[in-house]
Amino acid sequence: MSKILVTGGAGYIGSHAVVELAQAGYEPVIVDDFSNSKESVLAGLRAILGRDVPCHHVDCGDAEALRGVFRQEGNIAGVIHFAAFKAVGESVQKPLAYFHNNVGSLLTLLQVMPEFGVENLVFSSSCTVYGNPDALPVTEATPTKPATSPYGRTKQMCEDIVHDVSGASSNKLRTILLRYFNPIGAHASAKIGELPLGTPNNLVPFITQTAAGIREKLTIFGDDYATPDGTNVRDYIHVVDLAKAHVVAVQRLLDRKAPDTVETFNVGTGHGNTVLEVVQAFEQASGQQLNYSIGPRRPGDVPAIYADATKAETVLGFKTETSLLDSLASAWKWQQTLG
Ligand code: NAD
Ligand code: WQD
Repeated sequence: MSKILVTGGAGYIGSHAVVELAQAGYEPVIVDDFSNSKESVLAGLRAILGRDVPCHHVDCGDAEALRGVFRQEGNIAGVIHFAAFKAVGESVQKPLAYFHNNVGSLLTLLQVMPEFGVENLVFSSSCTVYGNPDALPVTEATPTKPATSPYGRTKQMCEDIVHDVSGASSNKLRTILLRYFNPIGAHASAKIGELPLGTPNNLVPFITQTAAGIREKLTIFGDDYATPDGTNVRDYIHVVDLAKAHVVAVQRLLDRKAPDTVETFNVGTGHGNTVLEVVQAFEQASGQQLNYSIGPRRPGDVPAIYADATKAETVLGFKTETSLLDSLASAWKWQQTLG
């Protein structure tokens, strides 16, 4: 059983990846400082897996503490690095915190990994690196654009850092960069899911909280874009499908099948949906009518982006399986467990 260190493994995507890794026969070990997650996630994992997942309450930016984890665990075959701050708006208010945490924790990890002979890394990147693309869908070869937020810039900087470090002859790092599109939904068991702290920024938790009566209504940010119904287009991927992409990426690294020092993959469904389509699909999936109105555009939103998912399919053999409807049904089921 190969041991995989999962930084940010108590978070939304990381916790789902821990489940898929364990069910695929890996031994996930979580490193999380719980800056944006709750210890109750561990009970959810235990309920799904029937056993405890080891968890180190450690900040990845703390090199000595991280060394302690590598030393204690021994024989780590690879790392999946989810740990980061992810709120676009907050990154504009607190850019230093974002550069410090997101870039700093990657630097620390890259420093510590070779000390313990660990060469395999999967890094959480984002479709945000494409900015507002000139053509759709975006392939991995689509040029990145200047980031529209400090958060987006941290992802671009981290990608650059990984390329430089992997390219250095003194280093044996092999990395798969996964560029996620818009993850939504929750595990079918509804034992784990997204736990937004405070008012959600993302569409789906805002929808489910509105349907649950926690928010009065959803404001759709603009309906005058050049899209089929005027609202933004995004590529919404079920979080369990996204989690499974990490399992195949890890397997590829451990099998030494990755030809380059760094490989990049879009992880999306390959389909775009408008905000209104998501609202309608949610209403259908939940049987709830959603209170919503059209408001002004949100600054920084790109009109439309969705993935060309061909490379992940042909190279990794990865294909999403869950429909938008089922993804939204899982999000609603999870919301109902939260009350
Ligand atoms: P999340 O906030 O739910 O999970 C991140 C986890 O990392 C949290 O549990 C948090 O406590 C932990 N963490 C943060 N900084 C840490 C540090 N220095 N040391 C240890 N733990 C730390 O976020 P998520 O949605 O699961 O995102 C995971 C990754 O995926 C992030 O890198 C994010 O930027 C990236 N990503 C997310 C999305 C999205 O829409 N959710 C899209 C693209 C990329
Ligand atoms: C989706 C759509 C909004 C809330 C963000 C990050 C991106 C990546 C994924 C990390 C947009 C609309 C939303 C609401 C709305 N994360 N919306 N009313 O902006 O596509 O991407 O998460 O890497 O970097 O920017 O996701 O969920 O915020 O918005 O109308 O109350 O829903 O305008 O079109 P986004 P989102």
